[in-house]
Amino acid sequence: MSSSKRNRSIEFFDSQFRQQIRRQDYQLNPFETQALSFLKGTVLDLGCGLGNLSLEAGRRGHQVLAVDASRAAVERVNHDAAREGLPVKAVQADISSWSIDQSYDTIVAIGLLMFMRRRQAIRLLDSILEHVRLGGRVVLNVLIQGTTYMEMFDTDDYYLFPPDEIEKHLVGWQILLSRRDTFPAPSGTTKEFITVIAEKPGCRGS
Ligand SMILES: C[S@@+](CC[C@H](N)C(=O)[O-])C[C@H]1O[C@@H](n2cnc3c(N)ncnc32)[C@H](O)[C@@H]1O
Repeated sequence: MSSSKRNRSIEFFDSQFRQQIRRQDYQLNPFETQALSFLKGTVLDLGCGLGNLSLEAGRRGHQVLAVDASRAAVERVNHDAAREGLPVKAVQADISSWSIDQSYDTIVAIGLLMFMRRRQAIRLLDSILEHVRLGGRVVLNVLIQGTTYMEMFDTDDYYLFPPDEIEKHLVGWQILLSRRDTFPAPSGTTKEFITVIAEKPGCRGS
């Protein structure tokens, strides 16, 4: 990994993914299923988790770079991409200190940005928006204020977004989808999500 920093969130997901890999539990979650029909061209999947969206995008002909801090998840994505001969590559990195080095037609960050402090989350959000090609798309999904399930968060490294914050960064973009979802979580807690899918104005660049 590009940084030696490990935090509770990353440990939480790495352990969950190891169990899912043992069970071969590779279902797309509802946010990933929803995102698939909005993908265009080359795809960067940040916080790809087990890579179910990345691999399905590869099956649909998209070239995908998938990034996650979980070694188990990255190994699973690369293993299955190679087995199926898909144009999907996964790399292990701590995205809070990782730079997007080229532009993509679609950048996906489902369930990622809340796992860092506000300053890092907003810096990454700005970088994501900058690296979407003209005419390209962004798929963003975050936990928002009102969420009471805190077990997966590191003590300091998290940020619950105000519900309107993502859209405030998308002024001038065409909003293709914007929705709120509430899911029950353990011990009577809840997870409150916002999902925004938007297209960057302008013709597709070369
Ligand atoms: C809620 S899961 C979402 C996974 C996947 N996008 C999905 O929809 O199933 C959050 C993911 O973000 C990853 N993650 C959290 N913090 C990260 C960081 N700083 N760098 C890289 N990945 C991180 C976790 O390992 C996990 O795979």
